Amino acid sequence: MQATGYIDGFIGPIDQIRVPVLDRGFLYGDSVYEVFRTYEGIPFLFDEHYQRLLHSAELSGMQISQGREELVDAIQRTIAASDNAGSEDVYVRYQITRGEGPVDLAPPAGLTSRLIIIVKPVPRWEPKFYEVGMTMSVPRQRRNAVNTLDPNIKGGNYLNNILALAESRAAGKDECLMLDGRGMVTECSNSNAWFVIDDTLVTPAAGNLVGLTRRSLVELLSEAGEPFAERELPADELPRATECFVTSATREVMPVRSLTLEDGTELSFPEGGGPMTRRARALYSDMIRRFIETHRDQAWF
Ligand SMILES: Cc1ncc(COP(=O)(O)O)c(C=O)c1O
Repeated sequence: MQATGYIDGFIGPIDQIRVPVLDRGFLYGDSVYEVFRTYEGIPFLFDEHYQRLLHSAELSGMQISQGREELVDAIQRTIAASDNAGSEDVYVRYQITRGEGPVDLAPPAGLTSRLIIIVKPVPRWEPKFYEVGMTMSVPRQRRNAVNTLDPNIKGGNYLNNILALAESRAAGKDECLMLDGRGMVTECSNSNAWFVIDDTLVTPAAGNLVGLTRRSLVELLSEAGEPFAERELPADELPRATECFVTSATREVMPVRSLTLEDGTELSFPEGGGPMTRRARALYSDMIRRFIETHRDQAWF
């Protein structure tokens, strides 16, 4: 399947989707976006993603000109135009920029926001990331503070995450685990982090994007009566961690094999995930199976 895109009503192969240079998304990263995926053609958590987009826009003071119906219609037409002939599941990224205007930081009044859509196959992670697990390190780069650029603005400016990831990649690791300026654990470059500390699952409560996969897992753990905590997590507790995994819409529940701390200490976790990680994976994949069974009538293709 070829990646397909949408801009200003035009739908075509991704290399024909061009953003005008005066678009504020291009000039300033002044945009918000969401990514969701389908399972057997059924959009997963579409409404939750849409609500998060509205929240990002609200935090950015951005008016969105396109309504929900226009967005859904454009996404469905973009998927239909892509050649996912075998009904391959799709990754959908939709981005709303504040619009086009003069080269000026202050946005003029009355801008029309621009909708851009990218549809491509759901990423296939290398099997080793699940069979063995990712390697991760804590970079020097700190996560933006909530009162500088709130991580809950899921926006078109990911330079903070790019720099942190680049540092970890330069150290030969797959992923980064960012701390905030106070030394609290926040999140990874595009996923939320979980640890087993003193036999309890812990995920940092703040300073990160409220991931929808994390939210689903929190619900599943509560239903299953599994103990977990969403709380502040100082980095100096990390040496006590016995398991680690990350969550995101495309990674789902992905184990972490090792974590290198800032002082060079390397923590090792069980290959392919320890018991709690495997339990979280099983809870999540059962939920996806149930979701598919109960939502077949909502399939888009
Ligand atoms: C910075 C960041 N944190 C966490 C996540 C995980 O969010 P979700 O579970 O909704 O995919 C993402 C996903 O895009 C992200 O970009």
